[in-house]
Amino acid sequence: MTDSAAPAPTRPRSLSGIQATSDSLHLGNYIGALQQFVAQQETHDAFFFIANMHAITVDQDPAQLRERTLRTAAQFIGAGLDPQRSTLYVQSHIPAHTQLGWILECTTGLGEAMRMTQFKDKSGKNEHVSLGLLTYPALMAADILLYQADVVPVGEDQRQHLELTRNLAERFNHRYGQTFTVPEAHILKATAKVYDLQDPTAKMSKSAKTPAGLIEILDDEKTLTKKIKSAVTDTGTEVTYDPHAKPGVSNLLTIHSALSGRSIEELVSEFEGKMYGHLKVAVAEVVVETLRPLRTRTLELLDDPAELSRVLDAGADAASAVAQRTIEQVFERVGFLHR
Ligand code: TRP
Repeated sequence: MTDSAAPAPTRPRSLSGIQATSDSLHLGNYIGALQQFVAQQETHDAFFFIANMHAITVDQDPAQLRERTLRTAAQFIGAGLDPQRSTLYVQSHIPAHTQLGWILECTTGLGEAMRMTQFKDKSGKNEHVSLGLLTYPALMAADILLYQADVVPVGEDQRQHLELTRNLAERFNHRYGQTFTVPEAHILKATAKVYDLQDPTAKMSKSAKTPAGLIEILDDEKTLTKKIKSAVTDTGTEVTYDPHAKPGVSNLLTIHSALSGRSIEELVSEFEGKMYGHLKVAVAEVVVETLRPLRTRTLELLDDPAELSRVLDAGADAASAVAQRTIEQVFERVGFLHR
């Protein structure tokens, strides 16, 4: 088979995965990652997948995993990811991830895997440590290398895994001949860091101490408004941007600015002489307006499981065509017999 019939890709390929471990993504995920993934459809040949295989490196309830996989996919689409323009799929639908994962496990040193800080953190915290937690980065490398991705947008916490992926690609290419594109990490610098509403010195995270601090993108309008109105603010009365002295107010300004696209300075001057309460009303409005269409579209999809599974099947077909080409070449290089 030759590739001469396929049109030459004109855009760099971007690929990223997200674990299906919550019912709703939160506002920090939306601003820090989802918005930027959606923007990449304009500039990249974008591949996004739900990493349900990575999810089971720690214990998961099967029904909940299934549900969260669908919910996460629906939120991607709800947020503007267009399955016609990007390839959206579920990791476990493509057996080549596991196949290449095994080969890359055999390419990774035990010491190398044990040095991963995420492994050290998670294995320290969990009572039962699965082998999968150790080999997690080899599977992640497979996720990326199968698709010959040029860039991988990920959070800072995945930087070391990307570095390992690059090493594995180079090691394999060196040993067996040019096979994999060596991908660049594109570390998502949160354009705006979003903090917990109840503890504005802690990053917004799904492990928030209280749900009131966390804006979930599928929260209904009443809940959103209530959470924002009861956000912790600071001593004083003036609306100014000062993350150290006024972390609560500054966080609200950041959220407004990230969603409305208006600058912090502009907002500060608009609220000059007004009270914290005014700012909260405005932030609640922006959040509600931004998330309304996203939530509506997501819930529509979740109400129509046949349509959602049709979209994910089509994504799997498109992804599989690319993955298959790579895995066949890899099998050949490694010396596996054709059947
Ligand atoms: N490990 C990533 C995370 O937890 C998710 C992930 C799995 C991923 N495979 C990937 C991200 C491949 C980018 C590319 O965030």
